[in-house]
Amino acid sequence: SHSVLGVMDMAKKLEIEIPEMYIRPQEPTILTDETTPSLTIPVFDLNTLLHENARDAELHKFSQLLEKLKLEIENFFKLPIEEKKKYQIKPGDVQGYGTVIRRKDQKLDWGDRFYMVINPVERRKPYLLPQLPPSLRKLGMGLLGLLGKAIGMEMREVEELFDDGMQSMRMTYYPPCPKPEVVVGLTPHSDATGITILHQVNGVEGLEIKKGGVWIPVTFRANAFVVNVGDIMEILSNGAYTSIEHRAAVNKEKERISIAMFFNPKFEAEIGPVKSLLNSENPPLFKSMFMEDYFKDFFSRNLNGKSHLETMRIKSS
Ligand code: SIN
Ligand code: FE2
Repeated sequence: SHSVLGVMDMAKKLEIEIPEMYIRPQEPTILTDETTPSLTIPVFDLNTLLHENARDAELHKFSQLLEKLKLEIENFFKLPIEEKKKYQIKPGDVQGYGTVIRRKDQKLDWGDRFYMVINPVERRKPYLLPQLPPSLRKLGMGLLGLLGKAIGMEMREVEELFDDGMQSMRMTYYPPCPKPEVVVGLTPHSDATGITILHQVNGVEGLEIKKGGVWIPVTFRANAFVVNVGDIMEILSNGAYTSIEHRAAVNKEKERISIAMFFNPKFEAEIGPVKSLLNSENPPLFKSMFMEDYFKDFFSRNLNGKSHLETMRIKSS
């Protein structure tokens, strides 16, 4: 008798025809080495953000929760397509499973996603999954507070904007692709958020950031989240922070799963450079707009680099 194996590996090498709508102009990834300063992303300890007394119990609960989340997400994407269709985005909506198509010739990403609003509660779609764990909210608020403080924003301003703010999340499943270099897992964009906390669920890399005009991979770090500064933070801080343009790449062998948690001001809040930072030397660089309208406007467009932020910039005459 004999045995065979390696069908999976063979299948990965078969030349399948990638459908035209997934094929993108190629923007190569620049592999710099570990010592290149541009690759150094600051790392800090979550312990410092959690309350002194509660912290060990909190952290323990937190890691159990992430483990549970991982299984639930993996199970969701493994459901038969007929099951997943029950969660499909309804016409005119943005929440649910799938990708909104706005144009016939729209290019598609090599990834399946599920987006939902988590807070405020009345904006949730009850038929779409769970709640954002309270410890994650706490983490988000802690980070926003620190970022605000660092540039001299008044705490009151941060709280008024973000306390019980709009929070949402997107889970993405990126299948392996036989020709990863011709597709994109997630179109280049900056996030329309205050901050985004990204959890790379199964430890597979793929996130890339644009720095100095080139795409650089972000090295995966176990037990760490990636925090992105979003467009709203750039606007509020009047450009003291700049949002980071990023994309997701896919690979030939491994599936990749990520959850992005988006932290935004409340729908009633006005988004514009905060008053405490403005003076004659630092005039507003961005227009103001209610979160409600900003959100609608963002979701009426396709992702496209930092172009949405540019619609908010005051043009100097
Ligand atoms: C995102 O930009 O929302 C997700 C990126 C990723 O999956 O790494
Ligand atoms: Fe993003």
